[in-house]
Formats: sequence, structure tokens, C-alpha cells
Amino acid sequence: MKLKGSQKIETERLFLMPQTIKEQKRLWEILMIDDVKKYYLTVPIKFKNKLIDWNLQEKYYKTKIEHANDKDVFCWSIFLKDTDKCIGQIDCHINIDNQSSIDVYDVGWYIDPLYQSMGYCTEAARAMLYYMFAECDIKKIITSAAVCNSSSWKVMEKLGFIREKKTRKVQYTFLDELTEVYIYTIDKERFLSFNF
Ligand SMILES: CC(C)(COP(=O)(O)OP(=O)(O)OC[C@H]1O[C@@H](n2cnc3c(N)ncnc32)[C@H](O)[C@@H]1OP(=O)(O)O)[C@@H](O)C(=O)NCCC(=O)NCCS
Repeated sequence: MKLKGSQKIETERLFLMPQTIKEQKRLWEILMIDDVKKYYLTVPIKFKNKLIDWNLQEKYYKTKIEHANDKDVFCWSIFLKDTDKCIGQIDCHINIDNQSSIDVYDVGWYIDPLYQSMGYCTEAARAMLYYMFAECDIKKIITSAAVCNSSSWKVMEKLGFIREKKTRKVQYTFLDELTEVYIYTIDKERFLSFNF
């Protein structure tokens, strides 16, 4: 693993930028849209009321930005090249459930609903994963997506992720009941041969 941090990445239509405080409120506003937060947030339910109040969140976002340029942080704000508008966030982070002897990573992404279904997440994810696998030399990603969240697992399948046979249950922050999720994995060799 080469610790290179969240360096700027350019794609055909997007810039993935290391995060700054400037766009954090906009990202929070996107995240708080029901259809965005529902199958994304897994922070403990006790934080639910704090999450929906910007005055309580601002401090957390400021602390997050203090670490935005750390070499072990891989989290980008997604901007449209032509309008410079921030439309979402994408990240790759150590998977804390990891039992393996190699470092295994997880991914997360969300896009403003006004800009969904235009291929932006797939474009951003392909570029981020290339950076993580080819330049930072990570070996493997294990991630998950709610069975009913097909827009997210379709992105994974378009990028070559393999769905495991078993599902598991996850407690999402804003849902009362446990939700069934698919588990997806991909390693460096498969990602590079599938996409390039
Ligand atoms: C998941 C998410 C980031 C995808 O972003 P996006 O920019 O719309 O993704 P893309 O356009 O690259 O691809 C989405 C795919 O899902 C499809 N899709 C979109 N909405 C769909 C729906 N309601 N049902 C089924 N498929 C859907 C799109 O058609 C596209 O597939 P295609 O290329 O075969 O046509 C976005 O839906 C989102 O922000 N969701 C809320 C947050 C979230 O759930 N994050 C993931 C947690 S695992």
C-alpha cells in the first residue's frame, strides 16, 4: 500500500478533488436527502438527531477537513468540470471488519439525485479504483449494498465486482429494521483486466 492520499483525479466529465470546507455544507445537504441517506449511512442510530442538524454537524465536518490531506485519507468531492458544481462524494477506506492478513478496503459513494443515472458515479468510481489499485497498490475491496439499492450495486457490477452468495443484514441509521445487503468483492487483477 502506497500512502498517497486524496490527490486530484480528472475524468472525462469530472474532477475528483481533495476535500475543502467550502463544499461541506452542500455535501451535507445532499446527504440529508431521504433517498441519499437511507442506504448510505450506518453510523449508530443514537447519532440520528445530530446528523440532521447542520449546527451540530459543522464541528464534525471541520475536524474531517483538518485530515483531508492526510496521506492515509482517500475521500474526494466530485465536481462537474463544465459548471464546477459539487455533485457528490466518493471514498475508499480500510474495512474495519477485515479478518484477512492483507489490508482490505471498502468504498462509499453518493450523488445528488438531480445528477443521478447519468453515469457520474460509475465514471468517478472507475477513476478512484484505478488510482487505489494501480497507484496506491491496494490489493482488495470488500463492500456491500442493500439488495433493494440496485443503482449502487449496478455500479459495482459495471466495474467488475463479484457478488458473494451469502447476504447479510445491516442496521442503517435512518431505517428502523435491519436491511439485507449483498456483499461484493474485487481484487486488483480483476479490476484492471475488467476495466482496461
Ligand atoms: C448509488 C449512486 C451513487 C449511483 O449514482 P449514479 O451517478 O446515478 O450512478 P450511475 O449513473 O453511474 O449508475 C447507476 C445505474 O443504476 C441505474 N439506476 C438508477 N436508478 C435506478 C433505480 N431506481 N432502479 C434500478 N436501477 C437504477 C442506472 O440506470 C445506472 O445503470 P445503467 O448504467 O445500467 O443504466 C446514487 O444512486 C446515490 O447517490 N444513491 C444514494 C446513496 C447510496 O445509496 N450510496 C451507495 C451506498 S452502497
